[in-house]
This record gives sequence, structure tokens and C-alpha cells, in this order.
Amino acid sequence: MSLDIFRLDGKVALITGGNRGIGLATAKLFGEAGAKCLLSARSETDESRALCEGENFAFVPGDITDPATPGKLVDATMEKFGRLDVLVNNAGVADGGDFHNFDDERLDRIMSTNLIAPFRVARACIRPMLDQGAGSIVNIGSISGYVANKPQLQVAYNSSKAAIHQMTAVMAFEYASRGIRVNALAPGYIRTRMAIDGMEDPAMSKVWQENTPMGRFGEPEEMASCALFLASDAASYVTGATLVADGGYITH
Ligand SMILES: NC(=O)c1ccc[n+]([C@@H]2O[C@H](COP(=O)([O-])OP(=O)(O)OC[C@H]3O[C@@H](n4cnc5c(N)ncnc54)[C@H](O)[C@@H]3O)[C@@H](O)[C@H]2O)c1
Repeated sequence: MSLDIFRLDGKVALITGGNRGIGLATAKLFGEAGAKCLLSARSETDESRALCEGENFAFVPGDITDPATPGKLVDATMEKFGRLDVLVNNAGVADGGDFHNFDDERLDRIMSTNLIAPFRVARACIRPMLDQGAGSIVNIGSISGYVANKPQLQVAYNSSKAAIHQMTAVMAFEYASRGIRVNALAPGYIRTRMAIDGMEDPAMSKVWQENTPMGRFGEPEEMASCALFLASDAASYVTGATLVADGGYITH
């Protein structure tokens, strides 16, 4: 046994939502661990553009809610790097407000981005993984898949993330005997674009931190290390799990 089990040498990863936040941090760490990474989001950022100047990274733009995008991303990964070992199913959006006023357009946006698209992306990735007889999928869920957030109201988002945790468990069951592991990561409050407005709002931020036993927010890099563990052979006997990384948020 050596620490090399945490490395991804020779592996190829597809990372959705890879232009910033948790996805970008994960791509950087995977690269350091030896992986080649195809990143996708609707558009590049300066940071993802700089990363993709390296030969082990590529960026393919696409709206993940377009039914054609998942297949295009898998094809691009195979064309560019010749295989597909790891999926980090990370792209997502948050939205909230009173349940009784949450209109269909917003409901569709949450569910199509956070549930339907990850389903389609995972489905597209499973096919080459089955051909290879191996693969590891890391779906990004949330503590919102377990609890009601305070103080903001967000039934649709929380429902989409709970569904991701269950999709993870049932996919793991289906593919365990064929060399494909499927796990989820459930972050707490992480300092990214998605959460930054709340973190910069003194009242909201106070409630979030008071409800986090560690008393601070998480950093994208702290999610990347969890994703690396789940993606790597270090987690060779882990499948169907949701790893909660939340500073203790859901302990109470
Ligand atoms: N930040 C948090 O506190 C937190 C907590 C729990 C879970 N999460 C989850 O982590 C994941 C990453 O979010 P983040 O925190 O890095 O926030 P972020 O807003 O920085 O990143 C979201 C990513 O998803 C991409 N994306 C959104 N809609 C898309 C679409 N239609 N097509 C293509 N790409 C799209 C964005 O371009 C971006 O790259 C999400 O699934 C989110 O729900 C975040």
C-alpha cells in the first residue's frame, strides 16, 4: 500500500461546471494528481482559460441542460484524451423563495440543471466506462439534500440534491459488479459564486456560520480533496456513499 492510491496518473476526468468554484478547484487538484481533465461550462473564465493552456486540460463549452451536451462532452473527452475514467458531475444552480410562489420556469431551471442534466451526463459516461470495465463517478450533492437550510427557503434546490444522493446510491447498486463506483459529495457552505451573496450578507452569513459547528465556511479546495479521494483508488471499496463535507452542519 502506498500513497500513490490517491493519485490519478493515466486517468482522464470529465468535470462539468469546471470554469470556477468547486469544479475548477477539483480540476486543478486532479491535474496535480496526474489526471488529464476535460472541463465544461457555458463559457470559460480567465482562470479556466489559463489552466487549459496546459496540455493536460481542455475546455469544451456547452449548456448542460441541452440534451445534446452530455454526448458531445463524452465524445470530446474520448477524441482529445482517448478514454474516460472519472466523471465529476458538478454543474449546478441554486434558487429559492417561498414554495407557493416558486414558478414553473424556476422549477424547470433547477431540476433540468441539478437533476436531469447530471442524470444524462452520468448516463453518457457510463457507456465508455462499461467498455473499459472501470470508472468512478462523483456526483455533487449538498447538505441541502439532507436538511432544510436556514434561513433561506429553497424546496426545489433541496429536492434536486436529495434526488442526486439517491441517484448515486441506486446507480452504485446497478454498476458495482461491473467495475464502476458511484459516490456523491455533499458540501456545506462553500466560498464560491453560488454562495457568495449570502456570505457577504451579514445577517445571512451569521446564521450560516452559527449553524456550522466548525464556525467557518468551506473553501473549494476542501471539496476538491474529497472529490479526489472518491475518484481515486484510495476509495476502491467505497460505492453508493455520500461523503458529507460541511464543517459539521448536519450534525444537529
Ligand atoms: N457553494 C456551496 O455552498 C455549495 C454547497 C453545496 C453544494 N454545492 C454544489 O456544488 C456544485 C458547484 O457549485 P459551486 O459552489 O462551485 O458554484 P458556482 O456557481 O461557482 O459553480 C457552478 C458551476 O455550474 C456551472 N453551470 C451552471 N449552470 C450550467 C449550465 N446550464 N450549463 C453548464 N454549466 C452550468 C457554472 O458555469 C459553474 O461552473 C453545484 O452542484 C452546487 O449545487 C455548492
